[in-house]
Amino acid sequence: MQVIEQVSAIRAKVQELRCSGKTIGLVPTMGALHEGHLQLLRASAQQNDITICSIFVNPTQFNNPDDYKLYPRTQVQDVALLQAVACDYLFVPDVEEVYQQQTQLKFSFGALETVMEGAHRPGHFSGVATIVSKLFHYVQPHRAYFGQKDIQQVAIIRQLVDALSFDLELVCYPTVREASGLAMSSRNTRLSQEEREQAAHLYKALQLAKEQLLQGQPVVLVKAEVQRYLHEIKQVALEYFEVADAYTMQPVQDAHETQELALCLAANVGPVRLIDNMLMNLNERNTVTLGIAGTGVA
Ligand code: PAF
Repeated sequence: MQVIEQVSAIRAKVQELRCSGKTIGLVPTMGALHEGHLQLLRASAQQNDITICSIFVNPTQFNNPDDYKLYPRTQVQDVALLQAVACDYLFVPDVEEVYQQQTQLKFSFGALETVMEGAHRPGHFSGVATIVSKLFHYVQPHRAYFGQKDIQQVAIIRQLVDALSFDLELVCYPTVREASGLAMSSRNTRLSQEEREQAAHLYKALQLAKEQLLQGQPVVLVKAEVQRYLHEIKQVALEYFEVADAYTMQPVQDAHETQELALCLAANVGPVRLIDNMLMNLNERNTVTLGIAGTGVA
Protein backbone atom coordinates (compact mmCIF):
# COMPACT_ATOMS: atom_id res chain seq x y z
CA MET A 1 0.00 0.00 0.00
CA GLN A 2 1.27 3.42 -0.91
CA VAL A 3 0.72 6.30 1.51
CA ILE A 4 0.05 9.65 -0.15
CA GLU A 5 -0.02 12.87 1.83
CA GLN A 6 -0.21 15.61 -0.74
CA VAL A 7 -3.26 16.67 -2.66
CA SER A 8 -1.22 17.21 -5.86
CA ALA A 9 0.16 13.64 -5.54
CA ILE A 10 -3.25 12.01 -5.13
CA ARG A 11 -4.61 14.04 -8.05
CA ALA A 12 -1.71 12.88 -10.26
CA LYS A 13 -2.11 9.25 -9.18
CA VAL A 14 -5.86 9.30 -9.80
CA GLN A 15 -5.36 10.80 -13.25
CA GLU A 16 -2.87 8.06 -14.12
CA LEU A 17 -5.23 5.34 -12.84
CA ARG A 18 -8.23 6.73 -14.67
CA CYS A 19 -6.23 7.09 -17.91
CA SER A 20 -5.31 3.43 -17.70
CA GLY A 21 -9.01 2.54 -17.36
CA LYS A 22 -8.99 1.53 -13.69
CA THR A 23 -12.11 1.90 -11.56
CA ILE A 24 -11.60 3.55 -8.19
CA GLY A 25 -13.40 2.95 -4.90
CA LEU A 26 -13.04 5.53 -2.14
CA VAL A 27 -13.60 4.79 1.55
CA PRO A 28 -13.52 8.15 3.37
CA THR A 29 -12.75 7.80 7.08
CA MET A 30 -11.48 9.73 10.05
CA GLY A 31 -9.26 6.82 11.09
CA ALA A 32 -9.30 4.68 14.25
CA LEU A 33 -10.41 1.98 11.85
CA HIS A 34 -12.62 -0.90 12.97
CA GLU A 35 -14.51 -3.78 11.41
CA GLY A 36 -17.18 -1.42 10.05
CA HIS A 37 -14.53 0.35 7.95
CA LEU A 38 -12.91 -2.94 6.97
CA GLN A 39 -16.23 -4.19 5.62
CA LEU A 40 -16.39 -1.11 3.36
CA LEU A 41 -12.79 -1.59 2.26
CA ARG A 42 -13.34 -5.25 1.41
CA ALA A 43 -16.45 -4.36 -0.58
CA SER A 44 -14.54 -1.69 -2.45
CA ALA A 45 -11.71 -4.10 -3.23
CA GLN A 46 -14.24 -6.54 -4.70
CA GLN A 47 -16.12 -3.96 -6.73
CA ASN A 48 -13.26 -1.78 -8.05
CA ASP A 49 -9.78 -2.20 -9.52
CA ILE A 50 -8.28 0.20 -7.01
CA THR A 51 -9.25 1.07 -3.44
CA ILE A 52 -8.27 4.35 -1.82
CA CYS A 53 -8.88 4.94 1.88
CA SER A 54 -8.69 8.49 3.19
CA ILE A 55 -7.97 9.27 6.81
CA PHE A 56 -8.63 12.87 7.75
CA VAL A 57 -10.01 14.08 11.07
CA ASN A 58 -11.98 16.92 9.60
CA PRO A 59 -12.04 19.97 11.90
CA THR A 60 -14.96 21.69 10.14
CA GLN A 61 -17.45 18.98 11.08
CA PHE A 62 -16.81 19.13 14.84
CA ASN A 63 -19.06 21.53 16.67
CA ASN A 64 -17.36 20.67 19.94
CA PRO A 65 -13.61 21.52 20.10
CA ASP A 66 -12.96 18.87 22.79
CA ASP A 67 -14.53 16.20 20.63
CA TYR A 68 -12.10 17.18 17.84
CA LYS A 69 -9.11 17.21 20.17
CA LEU A 70 -9.99 13.87 21.76
CA TYR A 71 -11.00 12.10 18.55
CA PRO A 72 -8.86 8.90 18.46
CA ARG A 73 -5.86 9.05 16.14
CA THR A 74 -4.28 5.62 15.64
CA GLN A 75 -2.43 5.80 12.35
CA VAL A 76 0.10 3.02 13.02
CA GLN A 77 -2.64 0.45 13.74
CA ASP A 78 -4.72 1.83 10.86
CA VAL A 79 -1.91 1.27 8.37
CA ALA A 80 -1.53 -2.35 9.54
CA LEU A 81 -5.29 -2.96 9.16
CA LEU A 82 -5.33 -1.38 5.71
CA GLN A 83 -2.46 -3.56 4.56
CA ALA A 84 -4.31 -6.64 5.78
CA VAL A 85 -7.36 -5.80 3.62
CA ALA A 86 -5.19 -5.07 0.58
CA CYS A 87 -6.04 -1.40 0.34
CA ASP A 88 -4.04 0.11 -2.56
CA TYR A 89 -3.58 3.72 -1.41
CA LEU A 90 -3.95 5.55 1.87
CA PHE A 91 -4.55 9.28 1.46
CA VAL A 92 -3.71 11.27 4.61
CA PRO A 93 -3.66 14.98 3.84
CA ASP A 94 -2.72 17.73 6.30
CA VAL A 95 -5.36 20.08 7.68
CA GLU A 96 -3.28 23.05 6.44
CA GLU A 97 -3.31 21.79 2.88
CA VAL A 98 -6.98 20.84 2.78
CA TYR A 99 -8.06 24.12 4.35
CA GLN A 100 -5.51 26.58 2.98
CA GLN A 101 -7.82 29.40 3.86
CA GLN A 102 -10.71 29.32 6.28
CA THR A 103 -13.69 28.24 4.24
CA GLN A 104 -16.63 30.64 4.15
CA LEU A 105 -18.71 28.17 2.16
CA LYS A 106 -21.78 26.87 3.95
CA PHE A 107 -23.98 24.05 2.75
CA SER A 108 -27.64 23.94 3.59
CA PHE A 109 -29.65 20.75 3.26
CA GLY A 110 -33.10 22.08 4.16
CA ALA A 111 -35.33 19.81 6.22
CA LEU A 112 -32.64 17.13 6.49
CA GLU A 113 -30.58 19.48 8.60
CA THR A 114 -33.28 20.52 11.01
CA VAL A 115 -33.66 17.14 12.69
CA MET A 116 -31.59 14.77 14.80
CA GLU A 117 -27.85 15.20 14.10
CA GLY A 118 -28.55 18.35 12.08
CA ALA A 119 -30.45 19.94 14.95
CA HIS A 120 -28.11 18.74 17.70
CA ARG A 121 -24.80 19.47 15.94
CA PRO A 122 -25.12 22.87 14.23
CA GLY A 123 -22.80 23.16 11.22
CA HIS A 124 -21.83 19.49 11.37
CA PHE A 125 -23.32 18.49 8.03
CA SER A 126 -21.95 21.58 6.29
CA GLY A 127 -18.48 20.48 7.43
CA VAL A 128 -19.12 16.90 6.28
CA ALA A 129 -20.33 18.12 2.88
CA THR A 130 -17.28 20.37 2.52
CA ILE A 131 -14.75 17.62 3.16
CA VAL A 132 -16.64 14.96 1.22
CA SER A 133 -16.85 17.32 -1.80
CA LYS A 134 -13.12 17.99 -1.56
CA LEU A 135 -12.36 14.26 -1.33
CA PHE A 136 -14.61 13.52 -4.31
CA HIS A 137 -12.75 16.18 -6.31
CA TYR A 138 -9.30 14.96 -5.31
CA VAL A 139 -9.96 11.23 -5.74
CA GLN A 140 -12.69 11.19 -8.44
CA PRO A 141 -13.97 7.80 -7.33
CA HIS A 142 -16.33 5.65 -9.37
CA ARG A 143 -17.82 4.44 -6.08
CA ALA A 144 -17.76 5.87 -2.56
CA TYR A 145 -18.50 3.77 0.52
CA PHE A 146 -20.25 4.81 3.74
CA GLY A 147 -21.70 3.00 6.74
CA GLN A 148 -25.34 2.91 7.77
CA LYS A 149 -24.41 3.86 11.32
CA ASP A 150 -24.28 7.45 10.08
CA ILE A 151 -27.60 7.09 8.29
CA GLN A 152 -28.41 10.82 8.23
CA GLN A 153 -24.93 11.53 6.87
CA VAL A 154 -25.64 9.08 4.04
CA ALA A 155 -28.88 10.95 3.26
CA ILE A 156 -26.96 14.25 3.28
CA ILE A 157 -24.26 12.89 0.97
CA ARG A 158 -26.89 11.45 -1.36
CA GLN A 159 -28.41 14.94 -1.61
CA LEU A 160 -24.94 16.45 -2.14
CA VAL A 161 -24.12 13.99 -4.94
CA ASP A 162 -27.45 14.68 -6.66
CA ALA A 163 -27.30 18.46 -6.23
CA LEU A 164 -23.70 18.83 -7.41
CA SER A 165 -23.90 16.06 -10.04
CA PHE A 166 -20.94 14.08 -8.76
CA ASP A 167 -20.45 11.26 -11.24
CA LEU A 168 -20.17 8.37 -8.79
CA GLU A 169 -22.17 5.66 -7.11
CA LEU A 170 -22.81 5.84 -3.37
CA VAL A 171 -22.63 2.49 -1.64
CA CYS A 172 -23.89 1.98 1.89
CA TYR A 173 -23.26 -1.04 4.12
CA PRO A 174 -25.03 -2.11 7.32
CA THR A 175 -23.70 -1.26 10.74
CA VAL A 176 -21.25 -3.78 12.14
CA ARG A 177 -21.88 -4.59 15.80
CA GLU A 178 -19.92 -6.08 18.63
CA ALA A 179 -21.27 -9.30 20.19
CA SER A 180 -23.10 -7.14 22.76
CA GLY A 181 -24.94 -5.28 20.00
CA LEU A 182 -22.91 -2.09 20.43
CA ALA A 183 -22.45 -0.44 17.05
CA MET A 184 -18.78 -0.27 16.08
CA SER A 185 -17.50 3.27 16.17
CA SER A 186 -14.09 4.89 16.33
CA ARG A 187 -15.33 6.69 19.43
CA ASN A 188 -15.80 3.38 21.30
CA THR A 189 -12.06 3.34 22.01
CA ARG A 190 -12.70 6.20 24.45
CA LEU A 191 -15.16 4.13 26.52
CA SER A 192 -14.09 2.38 29.72
CA GLN A 193 -15.03 -1.30 30.01
CA GLU A 194 -18.00 -0.38 32.18
CA GLU A 195 -19.17 2.34 29.79
CA ARG A 196 -18.85 -0.09 26.89
CA GLU A 197 -21.21 -2.49 28.68
CA GLN A 198 -23.65 0.32 29.39
CA ALA A 199 -23.45 1.49 25.79
CA ALA A 200 -24.75 -1.89 24.58
CA HIS A 201 -28.13 -0.82 26.02
CA LEU A 202 -28.48 1.67 23.16
CA TYR A 203 -28.97 -1.25 20.77
CA LYS A 204 -31.30 -2.95 23.24
CA ALA A 205 -33.36 0.25 23.35
CA LEU A 206 -33.64 0.21 19.55
CA GLN A 207 -34.71 -3.44 19.64
CA LEU A 208 -37.29 -2.63 22.30
CA ALA A 209 -38.65 0.22 20.17
CA LYS A 210 -38.85 -2.00 17.10
CA GLU A 211 -40.74 -4.72 18.99
CA GLN A 212 -43.21 -2.20 20.38
CA LEU A 213 -43.82 -0.62 16.99
CA LEU A 214 -44.41 -4.06 15.47
CA GLN A 215 -46.95 -4.70 18.24
CA GLY A 216 -48.76 -1.55 17.13
CA GLN A 217 -47.77 0.77 19.99
CA PRO A 218 -48.14 4.47 19.09
CA VAL A 219 -44.90 6.34 18.41
CA VAL A 220 -45.39 8.65 21.38
CA LEU A 221 -45.56 5.73 23.81
CA VAL A 222 -42.60 3.98 22.19
CA LYS A 223 -40.53 7.16 22.61
CA ALA A 224 -41.51 7.38 26.25
CA GLU A 225 -40.61 3.73 26.77
CA VAL A 226 -37.15 4.20 25.21
CA GLN A 227 -36.57 7.22 27.44
CA ARG A 228 -37.68 5.27 30.48
CA TYR A 229 -35.49 2.28 29.57
CA LEU A 230 -32.33 4.31 29.02
CA HIS A 231 -32.98 6.57 32.00
CA GLU A 232 -32.35 3.55 34.19
CA ILE A 233 -28.95 2.84 32.67
CA LYS A 234 -26.19 4.41 34.69
CA GLN A 235 -23.88 6.67 32.63
CA VAL A 236 -26.22 6.80 29.63
CA ALA A 237 -27.77 10.21 28.94
CA LEU A 238 -30.15 10.06 25.99
CA GLU A 239 -29.96 13.12 23.73
CA TYR A 240 -32.73 12.10 21.35
CA PHE A 241 -34.64 9.11 20.11
CA GLU A 242 -36.67 9.52 16.93
CA VAL A 243 -38.84 7.36 14.75
CA ALA A 244 -38.14 8.75 11.29
CA ASP A 245 -38.95 8.09 7.68
CA ALA A 246 -35.94 6.09 6.45
CA TYR A 247 -35.66 8.12 3.23
CA THR A 248 -36.46 11.69 4.29
CA MET A 249 -35.18 11.32 7.87
CA GLN A 250 -38.17 13.34 9.04
CA PRO A 251 -39.64 12.21 12.38
CA VAL A 252 -43.07 10.62 12.11
CA GLN A 253 -45.88 10.83 14.66
CA ASP A 254 -47.72 7.84 13.25
CA ALA A 255 -45.55 4.90 12.20
CA HIS A 256 -48.04 4.03 9.46
CA GLU A 257 -47.28 7.33 7.67
CA THR A 258 -44.40 5.61 5.91
CA GLN A 259 -43.28 2.15 4.80
CA GLU A 260 -39.71 2.18 5.96
CA LEU A 261 -38.70 3.53 9.31
CA ALA A 262 -35.35 4.49 10.79
CA LEU A 263 -35.19 4.35 14.56
CA CYS A 264 -32.41 6.76 15.46
CA LEU A 265 -30.82 7.82 18.70
CA ALA A 266 -27.90 9.76 20.13
CA ALA A 267 -26.68 9.50 23.69
CA ASN A 268 -23.74 10.39 25.84
CA VAL A 269 -22.19 7.38 27.49
CA GLY A 270 -19.82 8.75 30.09
CA PRO A 271 -17.84 11.39 28.17
CA VAL A 272 -18.50 9.95 24.71
CA ARG A 273 -21.33 10.87 22.37
CA LEU A 274 -22.60 7.87 20.38
CA ILE A 275 -25.25 7.45 17.70
CA ASP A 276 -27.04 4.36 16.48
CA ASN A 277 -30.03 3.44 14.34
CA MET A 278 -32.11 0.53 13.15
CA LEU A 279 -34.15 0.21 9.98
CA MET A 280 -37.51 -1.51 10.02
CA ASN A 281 -40.61 -2.05 7.95
CA LEU A 282 -43.95 -2.33 9.73
CA ASN A 283 -45.53 -4.39 6.97
CA GLU A 284 -42.86 -6.94 6.33
CA ARG A 285 -42.01 -7.53 9.96
CA ASN A 286 -38.42 -7.64 8.76
CA THR A 287 -35.50 -5.31 9.08
CA VAL A 288 -35.11 -3.44 5.80
CA THR A 289 -31.80 -2.72 4.10
CA LEU A 290 -31.96 0.79 2.77
CA GLY A 291 -29.88 0.57 -0.38
CA ILE A 292 -27.40 -1.34 1.59
CA ALA A 293 -24.87 -3.67 0.06
CA GLY A 294 -26.32 -2.98 -3.33
CA THR A 295 -29.88 -3.96 -2.45
CA GLY A 296 -31.76 -0.76 -3.04
CA VAL A 297 -31.50 2.94 -2.67
CA ALA A 298 -28.22 4.37 -1.42
O1 PAF B 1 -18.13 9.30 8.66
C1 PAF B 1 -17.00 9.82 8.78
O2 PAF B 1 -16.04 9.19 9.25
C2 PAF B 1 -16.82 11.26 8.36
O3 PAF B 1 -17.95 12.01 8.63
C3 PAF B 1 -16.40 11.41 6.89
C4 PAF B 1 -17.48 10.90 5.95
C5 PAF B 1 -15.11 10.63 6.64
C6 PAF B 1 -16.14 12.88 6.57
O4 PAF B 1 -15.15 13.42 7.38
